[in-house]
Amino acid sequence: MNKMSWPYVGGSFPTICRTEGLYLYDAADRPILDAAGGAVVTNIGHGRQRVADAIAKAAKETSYVVPPFITPSRQALVDTLAADWLSPTLTRAHFTSGGTEANEAAMKLALQYQQAIGERQRTKLIGRSISYHGTTLATAAISGHPTRKRGLEQALPTYLTVPTPYPLRAPSGVNSVSLGQYYVDQMRDVILAEGPETIAGFIAEPITGSSGGAIVPPEDYWPKVRALCDEFGLILILDEVMTGFGRTGTTFGYQHWPIEPDILVSGKGLAGGYAPLGGVFTNERVGAAIQAGGFQVMFNTFGAHPSACAAAVEVLNIMKEEGLVAEAASKGTYLHGQLHAAFDQHPHVAEVRGRGLLAAIEVVEDKADLAPFDQSLGLTTSIVNEGLERGVFYYAGGTGEVRDVICMGPAFVVSERQIDDMVENLVAAVDAAVAKLS
Ligand SMILES: Cc1ncc(COP(=O)(O)O)c(C=O)c1O
Repeated sequence: MNKMSWPYVGGSFPTICRTEGLYLYDAADRPILDAAGGAVVTNIGHGRQRVADAIAKAAKETSYVVPPFITPSRQALVDTLAADWLSPTLTRAHFTSGGTEANEAAMKLALQYQQAIGERQRTKLIGRSISYHGTTLATAAISGHPTRKRGLEQALPTYLTVPTPYPLRAPSGVNSVSLGQYYVDQMRDVILAEGPETIAGFIAEPITGSSGGAIVPPEDYWPKVRALCDEFGLILILDEVMTGFGRTGTTFGYQHWPIEPDILVSGKGLAGGYAPLGGVFTNERVGAAIQAGGFQVMFNTFGAHPSACAAAVEVLNIMKEEGLVAEAASKGTYLHGQLHAAFDQHPHVAEVRGRGLLAAIEVVEDKADLAPFDQSLGLTTSIVNEGLERGVFYYAGGTGEVRDVICMGPAFVVSERQIDDMVENLVAAVDAAVAKLS
């Protein structure tokens, strides 16, 4: 075997030998400031001894136990989540090894719920035009991410799609009415055209993650989507793999609006990158119906792995003790202020957007008509590479059709000085990459 990795569009990556705080260190011990928290994962920063100790303890105590058994770390995680993190409406948990498995499980739960309550025709699910939910055939298929479907298009199952709110590029003329209403009307049209009695649920990210680049929907969108799901009997699955556990300055991204999901999906920040873990949380309506239906909710062999659960407990405790959700909100305000100051007048940056410590810029060729640079130029990758050359890691966003989007999602312990470094180097990386095009 001479290669460990397959092609990935989004940067050329060095070997990393150690990590500490917000820094990655390469083989020559050169620091790289991690402006993206990996793939928007490392919420508490790298190198926390307490988490490493908790993982080691769980590995020694209960190295592997099949998921239906309770172990001390599994119990502690459920208790911690219920006490400090989840809405009381979410009463049931299912743990996986990551976000993809969690979304796949959530999609299956929505389908099983409808079967359990006798809605036998409800076999369809709706996703959104700009979105990312995972790598399996089903989660890739329901994602609005053409680049990650290449070579699979003919084989993927079909799901319904509604437009993702994209205020920057909203069709002209809709601003006179509510923009949120415009997108909700599109969703209503799809539901009515397909037949509401055939649709099981809807999956979406409350704030679109890297696929769109931290797109925040219009204020009235989510309450109206929740009402639409209720009107037509659809299960609302919120994919908070990226936005969950404080990232956007609230415990969960959906809490920016007065709504509750039926199924909440998490990953990434749940264990802060210290262990692979995803979580699916359902309300009692969904949980009780599936249980009464006698349907199996199959575990993954490594779901709820004891060491991963122990890591998550410690990560969540650190988050609570250090008030890191509030930090994400206040540092986010600082980050957005600095990004606006640096880019609002930039000739090639159409928008700075996001919430809390999830932020992105969208780079365009022409700011007047928002025309992007040609996709073949690979500008996003060039900007990421320019950033790495300057010692900062940014996360490549976009879907191919949506481009050139650069995402930031640093650890919540980021300092203002580090934010200044990230923003200053991003300006330099964008300018250098754009200059090399001509
Ligand atoms: C919103 C969202 N959902 C799902 C996933 C997939 O999670 P994982 O890569 O852990 O399988 C991601 C990963 O980037 C994501 O951002």
